[in-house]
Amino acid sequence: MISKVLFGKPYRTDAVTAPVPEAAEVARFRVTAGERALTFTCPLGPEDAVYGLGETMGPVNKRGGRYISFNTDTAEHEDTNPSLYASHNFLAVDGERPFGVFFDTPARVIFEIDYKRSGVIRVVCETGDLTLYQMESGSVQEMCRELLAAVGRCYLPPLWAFGYGQSRFGYATPEDFRRVADGHRLNGIPLDYICMDIDYMDGYRDFSFNKKHFPDIAAFVREMRGRGVRLVPIVDAGIKIEPGDPVYEEGIRNGYFCRNRDGGFFRAAVWPGMTHFPDFLNTKARAWFGGLYRFYTQAGIEGFWNDMNEPAIFYSEYSKGHGAGPLKFLLSLLPGKKRREKRARELLRDYKSFYHDMDGRRARHYDVHNLFGAMMTRATGEGLEKLLDHRYMLFSRSSYIGAGRYGGVWTGDNTSKWEHLRLNVRHMPSLNMCGFLFSGADTGGFNGNCTRELLLRWLAFSAFTPLMRNHTGKFTRAQEAYEFGDTEAFRRIIGLRYRLLPYIYSEYMKAALRSDLYIKPLTFVYPGTRDIEDQLLVGDSLMIAPVVEEGAVGRRVYLPEAMTLVRYDGEFHCQPVSAGWTEVKAAVEEVVFFIRRGKLLPVGKQIESTAEYDSEHLTLLGDGESYELYTDDGLTRACGEENIRVIKKI
Ligand code: GLC
Repeated sequence: MISKVLFGKPYRTDAVTAPVPEAAEVARFRVTAGERALTFTCPLGPEDAVYGLGETMGPVNKRGGRYISFNTDTAEHEDTNPSLYASHNFLAVDGERPFGVFFDTPARVIFEIDYKRSGVIRVVCETGDLTLYQMESGSVQEMCRELLAAVGRCYLPPLWAFGYGQSRFGYATPEDFRRVADGHRLNGIPLDYICMDIDYMDGYRDFSFNKKHFPDIAAFVREMRGRGVRLVPIVDAGIKIEPGDPVYEEGIRNGYFCRNRDGGFFRAAVWPGMTHFPDFLNTKARAWFGGLYRFYTQAGIEGFWNDMNEPAIFYSEYSKGHGAGPLKFLLSLLPGKKRREKRARELLRDYKSFYHDMDGRRARHYDVHNLFGAMMTRATGEGLEKLLDHRYMLFSRSSYIGAGRYGGVWTGDNTSKWEHLRLNVRHMPSLNMCGFLFSGADTGGFNGNCTRELLLRWLAFSAFTPLMRNHTGKFTRAQEAYEFGDTEAFRRIIGLRYRLLPYIYSEYMKAALRSDLYIKPLTFVYPGTRDIEDQLLVGDSLMIAPVVEEGAVGRRVYLPEAMTLVRYDGEFHCQPVSAGWTEVKAAVEEVVFFIRRGKLLPVGKQIESTAEYDSEHLTLLGDGESYELYTDDGLTRACGEENIRVIKKI
């Protein structure tokens, strides 16, 4: 049962689309009102676990931590950092009487969950305007399903978006993209798309191509399609202030940008220099922005990543007045607590200095901050729905619950270190609980230099995440799968992803259609496994236990029941393993995972891109009897249960 309680005059977030009945009162929390804020407290049983919060630091069980929903452009993915790029204010409490709660407010929210052993959940919503959704069901998984059903159907990517993607900040010329495509093809390493980072643009302007490099972008898109590769350009939130530029002029003419208190348009510097922010919280501005993607779709492009949409601000017209500029900004990035705190203070002042027109209701940005990226995703999604007659690829850096209907997310600027591979493992189930099924991290790491071993282990994990993209920064060591001397192991592990596609695609589509999770913690299915957060359930048939330690030759794995161990070294080798703890060998060049008892895993033939995808000639591994396979043309919007057929093991 899901119900809602309204406080104050909530801003419209459109996070929930299903009708939800109003309840007379809040079931589990005591509510206390401050001057502006509302505080919600609820005692926790000594054994209760708390799940949810999507993209946050810390463990999967959030108990013991302090987290702040305030979307932030941050490369500090450390446990001391309370805020990442997204706000997912949903908690599911697993205890004697499980319950779920979603604090639907775009303002800043502080979550203290048995923090400093307080024994309570304490949630401070900085403004008293919110809708609280509460769920009372049998289990935490059921609570997640209820939330996802209320939010509405999850985004359905095309099949090719489940392929492998290569990306790097710095690819600029057609030669760069050709080299990457050929590097994969010549080495037999599968590839479906290459992301175009900001260097494709003319002066970092959205909706532009560098004319010298891309005089005929449609021809280049066709050429790359001929090599079996799609191009996926980045689109940033800010529109460069450039009189004469049609996008800028149109935005100004129609008043589509966020405004200062005095009514002028707010100015903030991001990659292109000074920009205006489109008012994504305004329906008309959103429709305008979504329509601008025609610039790309008419060239044959069908996939995008939306970035800098927290929104990131390097410096603003206000801080500029205080002497900030590109140089000061770069200096502010140097390590140092003082510098960081000063920058954070400036940023808050900026967020308090501009306004949205939420279809007639004026809102100070700071009070609706966490909705900005989500509404950019929505603008893009709704635009692409009109511009294309089939499914599109889309993932965003910033998000809020509900944005999962329009696109996926990636988890931002991580680092090439083992801890961030482990963080990726922890993020995936939590993101799924909040409706972001199409998600993944920068495989190999964005900052820093990746090693062969780290990339192989990371690929072996990403092979199971819906978004599988290798992305790195501008000044890091080359991280393409053919850049580490030998290519055999890379070909094999990325190849495994493609052999698993019939399963990954089916499980994703079924989860999305049925308001369910694609990746979940072990404990959602196997009671008593709460402490095991480094093993995950992927779809209905698989358990994975990724190797996430440097120099490891295998790892200890807990089997809650007897399963089939699958070792992939180019071939699938299956062997039964009994329940309990077991030591599993896993060389860096191979992948080991498990098929649950009574379940099946359909695997396909070795292919090098989703263009060769064949859902007819499958091998069924495992000891189950039947499997529900989802098949369609990979593009059609007509996705439903009718595309699911039961295949049986003979
Ligand atoms: C941001 C993004 C990163 C991208 C870079 C340049 O840091 O998070 O993925 O490469 O901007 O566009």
